[in-house]
Amino acid sequence: MDKVIVGLKERSYDIIIGNKILKELHKFLANLNLGKKILIISNPTVFELYGQAVIEGLGEQYEIAFYLVEDSENAKSIHWVNKIYDFMIDYKMDRQATIVALGGGVVGDLAGFVAATYMRGIHFIQIPTTVLAQVDSSVGGKVGINHEKGKNLIGAFYQPKLVVCDVDTLNTLPMREIYAGLAEVIKYGIIYDRTLFNILIEKHKEILALNTEQLEKIIKRSCEIKARIVEEDEKELGIRANLNFGHTFGHALENISTYGKYRHGEAVGIGMAVAGKIALSLDHITIEDYEAILKSITLYHLATEIPEDYTISNLIKIMELDKKNKDNQIRMILPTKIGQVISQGFSSNELLELLSR
Ligand SMILES: NC(=O)c1ccc[n+]([C@@H]2O[C@H](COP(=O)([O-])OP(=O)(O)OC[C@H]3O[C@@H](n4cnc5c(N)ncnc54)[C@H](O)[C@@H]3O)[C@@H](O)[C@H]2O)c1
Repeated sequence: MDKVIVGLKERSYDIIIGNKILKELHKFLANLNLGKKILIISNPTVFELYGQAVIEGLGEQYEIAFYLVEDSENAKSIHWVNKIYDFMIDYKMDRQATIVALGGGVVGDLAGFVAATYMRGIHFIQIPTTVLAQVDSSVGGKVGINHEKGKNLIGAFYQPKLVVCDVDTLNTLPMREIYAGLAEVIKYGIIYDRTLFNILIEKHKEILALNTEQLEKIIKRSCEIKARIVEEDEKELGIRANLNFGHTFGHALENISTYGKYRHGEAVGIGMAVAGKIALSLDHITIEDYEAILKSITLYHLATEIPEDYTISNLIKIMELDKKNKDNQIRMILPTKIGQVISQGFSSNELLELLSR
């Protein structure tokens, strides 16, 4: 079992990473000074698999209730938030009460938003059960829901009190979700850490066979990298934007395909390949590093080519609306070598020219 500390002064918290550790939950909670009431927010798929283990792991000193939302991105909506508030008020949750998110990024983002807003904020604990949630969405405090006019438009920065990643839960995850989640681990390697990148290449067979030792190692390193970046720039005013490597293009692809065709990580995989290609065209990286990037994406069964169904000019129109743009320039995070990136702005015409080559 391993621990990563996210150091944010009085809002610091631990990320515990281990195998079959749900039964020990009560130990991790012991020093958090929580009230008696706990509400577990989950969905039927995940709760059926791990709900009982979590309830038993929390122990008898708590009064525990659970609330299940639909298993879909639609759960991140004001409709479900309202239903949960109703339940919490009837269940008489006070300001010492705790919300535990049990599930993937959807459940985590929704439950975190509820925790951030109910009575101006109550205790929040994440038990992420997808690769994406363990290495990315549960760390760093971004919580939120979707609006009919756009994804993740309503939200807050609200740090949890604790994150518990049990790699054993990944054994029931469909392989497509594993591949998609690992796109974010590849991202950490490319933006920050060549050693992590090399492990992903050299140990890909063990990782894809869900070898617990390798999973714990890469999840821990991913959490460490995200923690270090969030500690430096919690509200994304600077270096945290590097985490968007592959995402400007990836988001455009998810958006144009109206969020359903691609898993987030699948779109990010293509986005990382596109960013690599641009970096190569501009002589920012060597051909060897570019090829290594493509290899890492392909090893994890992710695509690297822009699908022919969409025109580059339509994708660029969506990129023009990206929240991270500045002064009418589309901001791209580009690798300069494995383990290092820069942020660069482009006009739509420049990008069209580069991507059409
Ligand atoms: N807050 C952030 O910083 C952040 C970062 C990245 C993504 N996100 C958000 O995360 C969401 C995507 O998260 P996700 O990829 O985890 O998808 P998800 O939460 O939809 O989970 C994927 C599927 O796997 C199922 N599942 C989860 N754990 C399982 C397990 N252990 N065994 C079997 N099935 C399991 C879920 O029920 C779901 O059907 C998006 O809404 C995205 O906006 C947030």
